[in-house]
Amino acid sequence: MNNGYVTNLLIDTRNANKEIYPYNIFPLKNHQNIKLDNKVTFFIGENGTGKSTLIEAIALAYGFNAEGGSTSFSFETKNSSSELYKHIRMKRSLKRPKTGYFFRAESFYNVATNIESLDELPAPCEKIIKAYGGKSLHEQSRGESFFSLILNRFCKNGFYILDEPESGLSLERQFAFISRLNELVDEQSQFIIATHSPIILAYPHSTIYQITENGMCEVEYEQTNAFKFMKMFAENHSNFLNELLKAKE
Ligand SMILES: Nc1ncnc2c1ncn2[C@@H]1O[C@H](COP(=O)(O)OP(=O)(O)OP(=O)(O)O)[C@@H](O)[C@H]1O
Ligand SMILES: [Mg+2]
Repeated sequence: MNNGYVTNLLIDTRNANKEIYPYNIFPLKNHQNIKLDNKVTFFIGENGTGKSTLIEAIALAYGFNAEGGSTSFSFETKNSSSELYKHIRMKRSLKRPKTGYFFRAESFYNVATNIESLDELPAPCEKIIKAYGGKSLHEQSRGESFFSLILNRFCKNGFYILDEPESGLSLERQFAFISRLNELVDEQSQFIIATHSPIILAYPHSTIYQITENGMCEVEYEQTNAFKFMKMFAENHSNFLNELLKAKE
């Protein structure tokens, strides 16, 4: 069951060259129907398995700017986005979101700069920075500026795509992030999130897709490496470290 805005991602790479990026990153089947059965969908996997490539393509297919931001941002500082978005079709529900945002930790700085330069132009409307808590995002720490974003800019009835929202967040803030996520979900928002965080991944009523060299499959939270390693470490960190360091000798 999904009461969100996008219910399926249909990826068709039949005519793509699987030898080259981005089609070589993980074994994309010719036809892939990714069901977004919950209002929160996670993509997980080891470094380099293709999460950012996929999530960026989903964001572009939806209409976001590749660098991040809302659908009204249209700037480009680098042109490294892949063509994968052209192979993605979204099955949308009849409901339309009222707002949306594509957050990517690695280029949030550019979005912050873009907000400041847009606000320098004379305009008959409120400054965009007001929606981010009023204080320049460059004058806030990484974790603080992300929190300003999700507290002030993210609101109900939104469609949000986030790449590594845990970046820069303390553990306490990651717990606070889950609370905010839950509030927004209760207010009819939908999220697609790539993460390495075992804390954020614990959010219930979500679907987790794990990407490995064998492809993509749905997994339960307790089956994820993020959870298993966190559990092993927390249960006996000295033993865990002894084994780890012994193995390296
Ligand atoms: N513009 C590009 N051209 C060619 N290869 C690329 C490009 N961008 C990424 N890659 C490669 O594609 C693979 C997937 O990269 P991607 O950034 O999607 O991984 P990821 O799962 O998000 O990793 P991480 O967890 O480290 O963020 C990597 O091997 C990367 O080197
Ligand atoms: Mg990534």
